Amino acid sequence: MSWRDFWNADTPIYVNDRHKILHYRLVARDIAALVPSPEAVVLDYGCGEALSARRVAAACGRLYLCDGAPLVRERLEERFAAEPKIVVLSPEAIDAIAPASLDLIVVNSLLQYLSVEEFGDLLGLWRERLKPAGRLVLADVIPPDASALDDARALLGFAWQGGFLGAALVGLARTTLSEYRTLRAELGLTHYSEGEMIETLRERGFVPERRPSNLGHNQGRMTFLARPVLFQR
Ligand SMILES: C[S@@+](CC[C@H](N)C(=O)[O-])C[C@H]1O[C@@H](n2cnc3c(N)ncnc32)[C@H](O)[C@@H]1O
Repeated sequence: MSWRDFWNADTPIYVNDRHKILHYRLVARDIAALVPSPEAVVLDYGCGEALSARRVAAACGRLYLCDGAPLVRERLEERFAAEPKIVVLSPEAIDAIAPASLDLIVVNSLLQYLSVEEFGDLLGLWRERLKPAGRLVLADVIPPDASALDDARALLGFAWQGGFLGAALVGLARTTLSEYRTLRAELGLTHYSEGEMIETLRERGFVPERRPSNLGHNQGRMTFLARPVLFQR
């Protein structure tokens, strides 16, 4: 099984519905805060179920939701069929987005599931689709020293605040025995140090900076903002 197969099914990542709802609510709030104008064209790449995408759509002119898993896209299409501002896309369909037409691309909690080569290819694609003044936001990037224990601690903090601590404790025990744990041990997750990420983004024609806080609940992970370099020598 690959990470792609894993995401094309119901995953044990969320301990219950409340966890999933609160997670997507928080992510949507943070993405909406990054939208530069009410007319902005936004791409949420690797969006997952994006339960609160209406909040982002309300803040922008058009919202593209792109996910690699057909099952996830089916659910998105069903959920947002009546939303004129939301367009659901497969990664292959990104070609249909005109070059230099996006104001904001957000990639939250995806890079750990991609190889360094896949990430490099996507950086090229994203850069091409961004307007000269557009911004790429890479969030929930896992630093090399972060462990599954750090993720568990962050989840428990989120669960405590969100009123689902009991379910989180049960969920953590379940995840330990789940496919996710086996896959994490077998396939691993891709980590980046702050320096590696800054360097990679510079090499790919961006002006990067690390944001002081991460998107979502896990502040042990990192978020980077990157603007296309306008004049390359
Ligand atoms: C951890 S989830 C993150 C979902 C969402 N961004 C969030 O913040 O909760 C990763 C998502 O990325 C999708 N994905 C994995 N590989 C992908 C790829 N190469 N291109 C597009 N989406 C991908 C998966 O199907 C999954 O829905």
